[in-house]
Amino acid sequence: MKDELFGNKVFGAILGALLLLFALRQVSEMVFATHPPKVAGDKIAIQEAAGDAGVVADTPPDWGTVLPTADVGAGATVANKCKACHNLDNGGPNQTGPNLWGVIGRKPGTHPGFAYSSGMTDFGNKIGKWSFAEVYKFLAGPQADVSGTKMTFVGLKQRQDRINLIAWLRQQSSSPEPIPAPDPKAAAAAKAPAGAAAGTAPAPQPGSGVPDAAAGAKAPTAAAKGAPATSQTASPEAPTTGAAAAPNRTDSTSPGGAPK
Ligand code: HEC
Repeated sequence: MKDELFGNKVFGAILGALLLLFALRQVSEMVFATHPPKVAGDKIAIQEAAGDAGVVADTPPDWGTVLPTADVGAGATVANKCKACHNLDNGGPNQTGPNLWGVIGRKPGTHPGFAYSSGMTDFGNKIGKWSFAEVYKFLAGPQADVSGTKMTFVGLKQRQDRINLIAWLRQQSSSPEPIPAPDPKAAAAAKAPAGAAAGTAPAPQPGSGVPDAAAGAKAPTAAAKGAPATSQTASPEAPTTGAAAAPNRTDSTSPGGAPK
């Protein structure tokens, strides 16, 4: 009798353990299931921004509109990412990358004493100077923007991060590049969709379980160039399968009116 009871207990314990295992598996599957959307959410915006034939377009904002309201303090924080390779002090040394004091407004590839890639020197001859817009495009995806650059930095996906950083970077200069007068049209457009100017990426879509394969297929460099307006509108409308949502969206004519 005792033995039988003991046997029951053992059996019960095993059963319990199995149940627990099963439950753990379920839980871990759930945990895993929440991960892909996070990635996919980003990629969706990218895929869209990439538009036709992978040509990425991330229209720079109207600087006269966005710079006066940019969060310079936040830009300083973003700049910490750059400090891994760049010194930003007046007269500071070159490091992995060139010193960036006064970089906005100067010709790319010309800081004394730094051995630039020929890609960067060529780029400098082509564009002439680091304007706000050129820095903006470069920081979205350095390697995509300047072919052959040795700046191995993935880029700043978030439009607002780049705007804030540029507002801060502009001040790291003995003669800051002047802020142009705002384009009234752009200012009006920026007001329409509240938050479009903020350009925050879509939050990960719950349930947008895009398969890994699809997400992986997108070029990572394209990631950097998410057009803000579409990113914005992307999230609320995205149905369960994020990828399928793309065609429904209002693209270039989105409310943000992609400020020129
Ligand atoms: C992993 C190191 C690394 C990081 C991180 C990095 N850079 Fe660079 N950066 C470089 C290198 C190297 C170059 C020189 C590129 C070349 O010669 O092709 C460069 C060049 C540049 C240039 C061109 C400078 C000139 O004189 O023409 C700018 C502008 C720039 N970086 C901005 C930034 C900003 C802003 C950040 C932070 C968001 C950043 N970089 C982060 C390594 C880095």
